[in-house]
Amino acid sequence: MISSVFRLNALAIFLILPQIAFSASSEAGETAFQKCIACHTIGSGPLAGPDLKGVNAKRDNAWLVRWIVEPDKMLAEGDVIATGLLKEFNNIPMPPMGITETEAKAILAYIESKSGENSAAAPEKEASPTPVVPPVQGDIETGKNLFLGRQALANGAPSCITCHQNTEIGSMGGGTLGPDLTKVHSRYGGDVGLKSVLLSTPFPTMRGVFSEKPISESEAAHLIAYFKSTNGRTEQQINEKFLIKGIGIGFLGLILVYILISLIWIKRFKGVRIPMVGK
Ligand code: HEC
Ligand code: HEC
Repeated sequence: MISSVFRLNALAIFLILPQIAFSASSEAGETAFQKCIACHTIGSGPLAGPDLKGVNAKRDNAWLVRWIVEPDKMLAEGDVIATGLLKEFNNIPMPPMGITETEAKAILAYIESKSGENSAAAPEKEASPTPVVPPVQGDIETGKNLFLGRQALANGAPSCITCHQNTEIGSMGGGTLGPDLTKVHSRYGGDVGLKSVLLSTPFPTMRGVFSEKPISESEAAHLIAYFKSTNGRTEQQINEKFLIKGIGIGFLGLILVYILISLIWIKRFKGVRIPMVGK
């Protein structure tokens, strides 16, 4: 009698444990997935990156785990699937997000659990209590001023021009640590996709500074308006040849100036000497 009850309990625990384990890992997955929402949704459409609904069925599990942990290495190795996706997604490389293998598995469990739901249930996220504030109307000029640092970012982060170029401001103006942002509006999927990445700046180099000093909603709106206005321009590759040529021209100029000055001095010298010595 006792032993049969015990056996039943044991059986129940045996049946329930995996459920608990699964939901725990799915919960950890939900937390870790917050690092991905700047670029991905599960069933609400693509942002800068693809919609991940049903991705577990589409790709090999080991591929997915490795991709989430080290996308940069897989792209560098020229992985065929990754390279194809990179082309499809406007050459935006998915950044390494500092995810461990365990976290990656938890994220995949979470994506799997969310993929089962139909898309009608997906906008649950938007239903969270966000205050009904009308979206800030972006202003191109303010956006440009923020980009250039004429207007400081409210949270004290360095201005974009420190590290980024935009054709609109001319050829030698911006920094080159980060990519040219002239066409970033279309590359990141317009207003929605770009806003999403600007608010959380999931880029490895920027994260260091901007996770502590995030861009505000209104700053993002102004920057987006500015980037939208520059989108039609052609990105200018600042190539080294051009720079070397520039330096070369500078050097030539220096020599010319030197020759000119010498000529003037010779003339002056003569002008003074001849009357004196000629006497
Ligand atoms: C800055 C934007 C960005 C962030 C942040 C990001 N991704 Fe991606 N992701 C992409 C892009 C873009 C692609 C398409 C491949 C490429 O261009 O590198 C992609 C592709 C993927 C794929 C492959 C989809 C498919 O159809 O095979 C998976 C899975 C994925 N990302 C998961 C994640 C997870 C999980 C995170 C968070 C830890 C994350 N991504 C964070 C941009 C991002
Ligand atoms: C300290 C240097 C630095 C500053 C300041 C900075 N960025 Fe970046 N940003 C980078 C780097 C480097 C990258 C390339 C990805 C990486 O390594 O993180 C990047 C990537 C980006 C990208 C993705 C571009 C692409 O083509 O994939 C966007 C968008 C962006 N930055 C916007 C901004 C904006 C807007 C500002 C100003 C509010 C800004 N950044 C300020 C360094 C910076």
